[in-house]
Amino acid sequence: VARNESIYQKFRDVDLLDKKKTVTAMKAGEDRAILLGLGMVIASAMMYFVLGITVLRSYADSVWTEGSVCIVLNSTITADMNCSYSCGLDCWRGSKYPCLQVYVSVNTTGRVSRLSHNEESWDANFECFYVPKCQKDTNAMHHIIVNISERLKPHHQVLCYYDPSDQQESALLTRQYGHSPVFHLLFWPSCMLTGGTAIIFMVKLTQYLSIMCEQVIKIER
Ligand SMILES: *[C@@H]1O[C@H](CO)[C@@H](O)[C@H](O)[C@H]1NC(C)=O
Ligand SMILES: *[C@@H]1O[C@H](CO)[C@@H](O)[C@H](O)[C@H]1NC(C)=O
Ligand SMILES: *[C@@H]1O[C@H](CO)[C@@H](O)[C@H](O)[C@H]1NC(C)=O
Ligand SMILES: *[C@@H]1O[C@H](CO)[C@@H](O)[C@H](O)[C@H]1NC(C)=O
Repeated sequence: VARNESIYQKFRDVDLLDKKKTVTAMKAGEDRAILLGLGMVIASAMMYFVLGITVLRSYADSVWTEGSVCIVLNSTITADMNCSYSCGLDCWRGSKYPCLQVYVSVNTTGRVSRLSHNEESWDANFECFYVPKCQKDTNAMHHIIVNISERLKPHHQVLCYYDPSDQQESALLTRQYGHSPVFHLLFWPSCMLTGGTAIIFMVKLTQYLSIMCEQVIKIER
């Protein structure tokens, strides 16, 4: 009988050791999960911060806030503009692209405005509708511009954005920092924040439930 008892004791010891091992392993896993969750929350906070001071500020600063129907008055290729493209480290060569000038009438105000493709092309050259990426092949850039001009024939109606305060005389066809891009930019940090919070919540919930379970077992005993 004594012998049987000692064997039984041994089994119990092994069993307890196993339990301890799994508990430590679980604890390490939980700690790692919490760290991952916290990392995701911190990373999303940093992304929000960077976006907040770059994109959202440009968006708030943008003067092209009102949308309207614009009627194309004329679209002409006026002159060749100089641009430079990179041909390697510290190497720049000059090239030329045709300048497409588009004038529209903003329907809601009746004002005549120059049209730019977006904020970026307005920044690059406010006189031309679109500034293609500079390249050696002037023909390719010419094709791009002609292709665009085909779609902006006189009397065509397009949706455009204008400055309701009349400070800015150009209108834009698309806004880089319109609602949709802002939505896309905020989407990923928001996903990350939700994921991180969910991981932390789940781990905490599991810990809480296992503590509850232990207490219930103790009470039953
Ligand atoms: C296009 O229309 C604008 C505004 O009416 C005018 O100032 C400009 O001279 C016109 N351009 C051409 C090439 O007709
Ligand atoms: C483009 O550069 C050439 C010299 O390479 C110059 O003569 C010309 O005036 C420039 N054109 C414009 C629109 O700046
Ligand atoms: C332009 O505005 C006038 C009123 O100012 C309106 O009657 C007309 O339908 C508008 N055109 C478009 C294309 O929205
Ligand atoms: C403009 O380019 C698009 C592709 O980017 C092409 O499908 C279309 O046929 C072109 N239109 C003209 C008028 O060249």
